[in-house]
Amino acid sequence: MSKPSASLLDLKSLSSSQIHRLFSLAQEIKTKNRAYQPTGLTIGLLFFEASTRTRISFETAAHRIGLSPLLLDGGGSSLEKGESVEDSILNVAAMNPHILVIRCGDSVNLEEMSRNIPCGILNAGWGVKGHPTQALLDVFTMQQTMGLESGVMEGKKILFVGDIRHSRVAASHFEISKTLKTQVAVCAPAEFQPESNPTKTFLDLNEGLSWADVVIVLRCQFERHQSGFKIFSTEEYRRNYGLSAARLKNLKAQGLIMHPGPINHGIEMESEVLADPRCRVLQQVSNGVFVREAILRSTLMSTVEGSLL
Ligand code: CP
Repeated sequence: MSKPSASLLDLKSLSSSQIHRLFSLAQEIKTKNRAYQPTGLTIGLLFFEASTRTRISFETAAHRIGLSPLLLDGGGSSLEKGESVEDSILNVAAMNPHILVIRCGDSVNLEEMSRNIPCGILNAGWGVKGHPTQALLDVFTMQQTMGLESGVMEGKKILFVGDIRHSRVAASHFEISKTLKTQVAVCAPAEFQPESNPTKTFLDLNEGLSWADVVIVLRCQFERHQSGFKIFSTEEYRRNYGLSAARLKNLKAQGLIMHPGPINHGIEMESEVLADPRCRVLQQVSNGVFVREAILRSTLMSTVEGSLL
């Protein structure tokens, strides 16, 4: 099988016109809600790290366009017999799925694997390197909610609060912000600041919220913290960086509140925030299906046209 499909491993390689076309397709999918017949093609969903939203939304999108999902999520697989993640990917690829959706740790070299695997690979969360489909669905949700045409995100102010250093979502947002020319700022304790900080920094969350058009709260990624990393108390973190109804008085009336999920309730965000009319957390999840369906359809089309979108 010759290499038929494009991969989506990061957002550096997507131009603003490709993002615009993807969002137009996602909007058309959302509006028309078309059902497709089974295609006889398969899609491998390989999740070597835990997932609810990304896995189920890719699976839903696959069903909607007639792709049969083949799920490998670790439980009961030959990983338990010591098979490596790389060998697992190569063996599923040898069964000729049309697309592989992969969530894995940083140690896997997805770029090299994508050169040796004939089908397109879609990054569904790759260590702390990136989570491109999440950033795309976030920006799609911003545009939809703000009533913006694609391409006019320029200058919009996006504030990231929380564990930015360990967040692949933030990493992908920093990539797409360069393409869409949005302004990005962070508010986090020193331990959670990005290592190379391309952004504006707020020490005070209230000041950051006053500045922002959109606040994206990030999960404290305890599983990625090395032992001994937790040098502040959860209560102190909540007091200084936790989003609460009281804090939200500082956010514009038209501001948006987002979180990629899952949420640590009572740590980075109080449950009451979900009831705020500016909160878009579940809309992000709904839009994830449309954006991922658009990506799958674009990847299928690239079989003919040779490049994604
Ligand atoms: N946002 C996100 O990636 O969620 P899951 O880990 O549940 O897929």
